Amino acid sequence: MSYWRGIIHKYREFLPIGDNTPVITLCEGNTPLIHAENLAKSIGFKGEIFLKYEGLNPTGSFKDRGMTVAISKAVESGKRAVICASTGNTSASAAAYAAKAGLKAYVLLPKGAVALGKLSQAVIYGAKVIAIQGNFDDALFIVRKIGELLPVEIVNSVNPYRIEGQKTGAFEICDALGRAPDYHFIPVGNAGNITSYWKGYKEYHKAGKVNNLPKMMGWQAEGSAPIVKGYPIKNPQTVATAIKIGNPYSWQPALQAVQESGGLIDAISDEEILQAYKLIASTEGIFCEPASAASVAGLIKLTREGYFKGGELVVCILTGNGLKDPDTAIKVCEQPLTLPPDVEEVIKYIET
Ligand code: F0G
Repeated sequence: MSYWRGIIHKYREFLPIGDNTPVITLCEGNTPLIHAENLAKSIGFKGEIFLKYEGLNPTGSFKDRGMTVAISKAVESGKRAVICASTGNTSASAAAYAAKAGLKAYVLLPKGAVALGKLSQAVIYGAKVIAIQGNFDDALFIVRKIGELLPVEIVNSVNPYRIEGQKTGAFEICDALGRAPDYHFIPVGNAGNITSYWKGYKEYHKAGKVNNLPKMMGWQAEGSAPIVKGYPIKNPQTVATAIKIGNPYSWQPALQAVQESGGLIDAISDEEILQAYKLIASTEGIFCEPASAASVAGLIKLTREGYFKGGELVVCILTGNGLKDPDTAIKVCEQPLTLPPDVEEVIKYIET
């Protein structure tokens, strides 16, 4: 049988999985790498764009790649409970994998700042949801303290197994393209994912699977861009709630990824994020969440500035599924028409 059995099964030799590690999987990974010709044309990009659509993971985001490893290792070490702080996606993923493993899950969310779809996931998977009257950074501080005091496994990306699992995204891109891209565009929040991808590309390169390495191009939202500004942001703001983080845990490794690869980390405005969000959907038929669109927004910005010579191969990571946050889509698009049940009335609006 050759059915897809998740990233641990596929990439075991690159992961810290032993003979006694129970593999807890929801068959994550194997997400599509979509050739985005329409998008390239509409933004005037003279190379090739591929979108890695991580929104098609089991809980709708890239977090599942890291969570399968983190939860498997938590079970191996005899833990009965896991805990995380989250802007929404980590909590959804932790709750699902904990359910599969039979572990208790505790998730701390910044009150009023998590998209409803993500909250609904944590609840239905059976996690204990605690809304903190503060932001993500406050919640992560509490989680790390509790991790010191109780035998509960932290499954934020402070857990190195999360980084290990998430690096498999880079392996899949290289397997699909037969090489690494020239540029890798990615949104940056707590900075775990940019760290993971760079680790993955380097390991694949070292193993002789590819001959090149990409430049890592990280994008923060302007109102929550601590790495770009060089200091923590006390009260981060952005429409892209998933990356509304003022003091990222993986700050240093993210900077290292950018420096080693010859890439950059920069900020993008909410307006540019939302324009990219709509453009990805309307040109490619892909609905990602606002934070995910930061990668494409960055590509659009650099293309307009004349950054590229032409002929480059670019991959943008679309980190999460747009269905998690339908409120934002409804808010930024034209509202549906309401008409009487009458053919004559409706036909006025149909262009052929
Ligand atoms: N995109 C989405 C959709 C996210 O949910 C996140 C992070 C990121 C990008 C940024 O990735 O933190 O590794 O730099 N979400 C975390 C969470 C913080 O709690 O779900 P990062």
